[in-house]
Amino acid sequence: MSHKFDVVVFGSCIVDFISYVPRLPKIGETLHGTKFVTGFGGKGANQCVAAARLGSRTAIIGKLGDDPWGKNYHDALRLEGVNVEHVDIVDGESTGIAQINVAENGDNQIVIVVGANNCLEPADVHKGAELLSNANVLVCQLETPLNATIEALKNFAGTSIMNAAPALESVPLDLLEYSTIFCVNETEAALLTGLQVETVMHAKAALLKLRDMGCGTVIITLGEKGAIFAMKNSTKVKHVKPIHVERVVDTTGAGDAFIGALAHFIAKNPSTGLTECIAAANRVAAMSVQKPGTQISFPRFEETGLPLDVSSYQSEWEYI
Ligand code: RIB
Repeated sequence: MSHKFDVVVFGSCIVDFISYVPRLPKIGETLHGTKFVTGFGGKGANQCVAAARLGSRTAIIGKLGDDPWGKNYHDALRLEGVNVEHVDIVDGESTGIAQINVAENGDNQIVIVVGANNCLEPADVHKGAELLSNANVLVCQLETPLNATIEALKNFAGTSIMNAAPALESVPLDLLEYSTIFCVNETEAALLTGLQVETVMHAKAALLKLRDMGCGTVIITLGEKGAIFAMKNSTKVKHVKPIHVERVVDTTGAGDAFIGALAHFIAKNPSTGLTECIAAANRVAAMSVQKPGTQISFPRFEETGLPLDVSSYQSEWEYI
């Protein structure tokens, strides 16, 4: 069925304060950085902008503070073509902020204070009911209150992608059971399952444990090792191979580029297999790590070199 929106995000908007440093500081250490920039971030908004840049019709349900950052962020999302009718400015709250250090090898450290994002509540799902019933894919993360996120998942009839980031040690069963696709990285998979996740085979064990815990389709992203996934009710695990990157500049937001791109490809190519959608999303994430910044590093569709019909994209994969 054709909807008004390809991708709707129920999630976070955060302003990033980014310091570039030669290496990440040790505990108690003060380091001289080389550059400071601010940018628009937050996993939810990043994922939404990633999808919008690829050509999805997008909307976000979220909260901003009643400070200059909130107003600027509202305008920035609109300029990206994102529908912001359901992004509220909350009186007396500050816009979420993230302090980010990016090292010369591309590694990062992030501390978030979510501020107004904490005001997203189940009632916002009901206020956005029309929007949600008009979208192909819903995307959620864990930077906004869990009860509201679960309400969004429960009230969505299309394909939902739950990106359980940042990492939590445990999540309510509803979060696993009500999402169509549950997607985490190695760190998040390790924390949720209690297993060590360093190799592709470790990741396979974690994926099967997540399935036992109640998940349907599961994807685990593995950075420079690509991604693995298994469809709901199948024990066959596929390893989708990575895209080779010559020089990593900044990994901040690469996971969000992947999720936003995945949502885009699923929404635009509903009959294409998940393997091709994941491979194409890997390519978008690989492009984003080669540029500094979060949203500003996300490519537009024309820059990706991907075919319009992603089912014809040659992906490299194997069963593991
Ligand atoms: O995933 C990267 C994002 O995490 C940053 O933009 C920051 O805002 C935090 O939410």
